Amino acid sequence: MLALKNVSQFSENNFNDDSLFALIAQGIESNGYSILPTALPEALTETLFTHQQLMEADKFKNAGIGRGKEYLKNEFVRTDAISWITGETEAGADWLNWVAGLQSYLNRRLFLGLFSFESHFAHYSPGDYYKRHYDAFKGESNRVLSLIVYFNSNWLASDGGELVLYQDQQDQVGTKVVPLMGTIVAFLSEEFPHEVLAANRDRYSIAGWFRVNTSVTDRVDPPR
Ligand code: OGA
Ligand code: MN
Repeated sequence: MLALKNVSQFSENNFNDDSLFALIAQGIESNGYSILPTALPEALTETLFTHQQLMEADKFKNAGIGRGKEYLKNEFVRTDAISWITGETEAGADWLNWVAGLQSYLNRRLFLGLFSFESHFAHYSPGDYYKRHYDAFKGESNRVLSLIVYFNSNWLASDGGELVLYQDQQDQVGTKVVPLMGTIVAFLSEEFPHEVLAANRDRYSIAGWFRVNTSVTDRVDPPR
């Protein structure tokens, strides 16, 4: 069994969303991150898992780093394939609805000022990885909170593909997260370098980011 620091056990049969949101908030408040195995509501997990499995392969495009001009595939950094989530599908709408509840809770409880959210399904084929990186750089981005959930059953230690969350720039050990079905990970985007180790089997997840609004006067930043 992999050593996980600050992992809260959570029974999915026994919660309303506020108690789950409270656990996520507590982790963020105390440690800057929260790792909750088997925590996403079961019905939502099932809907998202099924949707991701049914999505046609051609809906996926190769993942890029950034957008627009910076939308360049960079195989040195990451090799997964992604599909951005809109509310146009029932599964996507269910997900965004649950996320909106989390966003509202975190804003009430932690005053994070979360303003918008963007997310994508990700599929790592065997051998795919995402090298150590930050999701946001201080002062350069309005991404403040990263949120990841996983859709993989019966994941074995030999399957690899762990998320490794590092405490800071110096940390070379990190905390390993097994990408098991329904596991939720949330962390402050500017604080924690992290990476995805290469997996030996297909690895399915959603990765998303809450942004704060950096608009000045009457200009409102759209999600990028
Ligand atoms: C990302 C990321 C981690 C994971 O997409 O930025 O770090 O475990 N994903 O999928
Ligand atoms: Mn990341």
